Amino acid sequence: MATWPENRWYVAAYSSEIGDELFARTICGRPLVLYRTSDGEVVALADRCVHRRFPLSQSHRVDDTIVCGYHGFTYDAGGTCVMVPGQKRIPRTARVPAYQVVEQDTLIWLWVGEGQGDPTDIVRVPWLDSPDYTSVRGMEPLAARYELLVDNLMDLSHETYLHGGYIGTPEVADTAITTEADDEHGIVYVSRHMDDAACPPFYSESTGLHGRITRWQDIEYHPPCLYMLHSRIAPVGELPPPNGPDDKAFHVEVNYAITPETEHSTHDFWMVSRDFALDDQKVSDFLAENNRTVVLQDVVALDLLEQVIEGESDNYQELSINIDTGGLAARRILNAMIGESATPTTATAQSAVGAPAVAGR
Ligand code: FES
Ligand SMILES: [Fe+2]
Repeated sequence: MATWPENRWYVAAYSSEIGDELFARTICGRPLVLYRTSDGEVVALADRCVHRRFPLSQSHRVDDTIVCGYHGFTYDAGGTCVMVPGQKRIPRTARVPAYQVVEQDTLIWLWVGEGQGDPTDIVRVPWLDSPDYTSVRGMEPLAARYELLVDNLMDLSHETYLHGGYIGTPEVADTAITTEADDEHGIVYVSRHMDDAACPPFYSESTGLHGRITRWQDIEYHPPCLYMLHSRIAPVGELPPPNGPDDKAFHVEVNYAITPETEHSTHDFWMVSRDFALDDQKVSDFLAENNRTVVLQDVVALDLLEQVIEGESDNYQELSINIDTGGLAARRILNAMIGESATPTTATAQSAVGAPAVAGR
């Protein structure tokens, strides 16, 4: 059984990554080839020729078809073989799976599972494609299971220790969180509101704010793939007005798409959107560089954790505390989605990072 939920939407790529060229990427254990047809539609096909398995991504594009680079089987954008060499009759089974794709908010979403997904189930990420925001983004390959990235993002107390000097300050780890799980809709909310905090370089350099700030982190995780961090930065004491725009504050939307590649590797898509200094290229360059550095700090830590987990016995028991409530809620929802028992015992036995109990509440 897959360790990720099937029958769900996952981000396969950024819109900007897919053009005329054949583009290879493995999503949830499925090697795919993606490209854009002449009318701009994104196509995702299984990356294996039905004849002798040659990767279609290493083949040739001719108009909107792919001609296999080994013996020339030719596939249309729906995955149907329209030409085979040396004979007129095309076998009925000569087709490769075509995946349902939705391009929305500058993201390429892929339906992973049986049948067809409902595009209206895809959560919108409006700031990625809004004139009121400027976004920077990247994708870092992670040699670690996606569950470790979920854990990492649901508990931002690690900013203090892993990202000190970038986005971490003592107040992040020192401030208690509130966690809420909406099991019916499959959403986990984690909030940390720091009323009087140091301003880390990530925000002081980008906003120009110096001195103490009020810093809010409101996480909204839509398992399995979409993570949103609504970040509000303002001078100390500056709260959102009861009416009217919150224009004394700076807003940064930090989004991640958490897409499993294999059971032990993950595509770590990161996006940072801001509602200030919209045309300031220096701010864009700074946020892109700084956030990538932060993401790479996580990558180093999570790659290390993956090695530790792979080398240990199955019955290792983690200890969880209050900071882990968001991560535990996420695991519970993910496990329910995967179709396993949501009981802690089963979750622990089936997931090397399972941890059922919270100590010290
Ligand atoms: S492997 Fe593709 S045509 Fe033979
Ligand atoms: Fe991090």
